[in-house]
Amino acid sequence: MPYPKVTVVGAGHVGATAAHLLLVKALADVVLVDVADGLPQGKALDMMHSRSVERFGPRATGANDYSACAGSDVVVVTAGVPRKPGMTREELAGINARIVRSVMAEAVPASPDAVFVIVTNPLDVMTDLAWRLSGLPPERVIGMGGVLDSARFAYYIAQETGVDVAEIDALCCGMHGEAMVPLPRHSFVAGRPLTEVLTPERIEEVVRRSVAGGAEVVGLLKTGSAYYAPASSIVAMVEAVLGDTGAVLPSCVLLTGEYGIDGVHMSVPASLGRDGVRSIPVLDLDEAELSALRASAETIRGQLAAAGV
Ligand code: NAI
Ligand code: 2OP
Repeated sequence: MPYPKVTVVGAGHVGATAAHLLLVKALADVVLVDVADGLPQGKALDMMHSRSVERFGPRATGANDYSACAGSDVVVVTAGVPRKPGMTREELAGINARIVRSVMAEAVPASPDAVFVIVTNPLDVMTDLAWRLSGLPPERVIGMGGVLDSARFAYYIAQETGVDVAEIDALCCGMHGEAMVPLPRHSFVAGRPLTEVLTPERIEEVVRRSVAGGAEVVGLLKTGSAYYAPASSIVAMVEAVLGDTGAVLPSCVLLTGEYGIDGVHMSVPASLGRDGVRSIPVLDLDEAELSALRASAETIRGQLAAAGV
């Protein structure tokens, strides 16, 4: 059986790390595409050199154009500029919109049947832009933000409670940015809601650290942003799509009335399968949670208007 084909556009930190994980987990052949001369080819060759050690079956190819990408099952878009210390994700909108525009113009004709997973920041704005440029049904253009934000929330809950992260099921929805919406009542520590495990003060502190988690990494790295947890989060989504599993993952999807929000891309739990979003099972949120989610949507709407994309 041939492996599925995944194109990863942008062979930088996030793209290359995700590509290598896809290979090591034997999920797909990978085509790495980047504008930088030699970069995708060099990284693909390096990954192929790891093949006999890791004993994986699929292959990596690197290219500066889209000819090798034809007929991909999934296209992951990580092309763009990452933030530096002191920068918000939103400050990247202008330059990254131009990059996403040029990527979609070539990637969609090369793989018209693919599911697109957008990663470039500002994530919710870029996912909306990529979907509008693609001409594809909304189910097939999904953003990666909520899986990463939830993973960070889980990490800080584990730190605070001392419970192994494997026992933690954390959920963070909304914008991938300051206005993200961690949901303590819908996050569980060994099956118990976080609200029954920690005091409101400790939850507030865990939430604060989770929201600042990406900036904490940027501050330490100084030259760019996180890529290991982002790559793992991408691969979790791609795995659900390629395996047609129906796994429910917090994904940046187009809302059309769910939670009283219409016409905004942002992260909420969504069931993912071979055609992208299978369904959006709506959570039972209380008034405070709903208003936080709606406020997050309004922030994204404002950013879309400000970016003028
Ligand atoms: P990076 O700078 O290491 O890699 C970006 C790559 O994109 C570079 O190799 C560059 O040559 C390439 N590129 C630029 N224009 C291109 C084009 N038109 N076509 C193909 N490739 C092009 O950056 P890194 O750390 O990999 O981050 C990539 C993007 O992902 C950034 O916008 C970053 O903010 C975002 N990001 C989003 C996350 C999320 O949760 N959604 C998490 C982490 C990063
Ligand atoms: C992150 O959250 C920069 O969006 C990226 O690490």
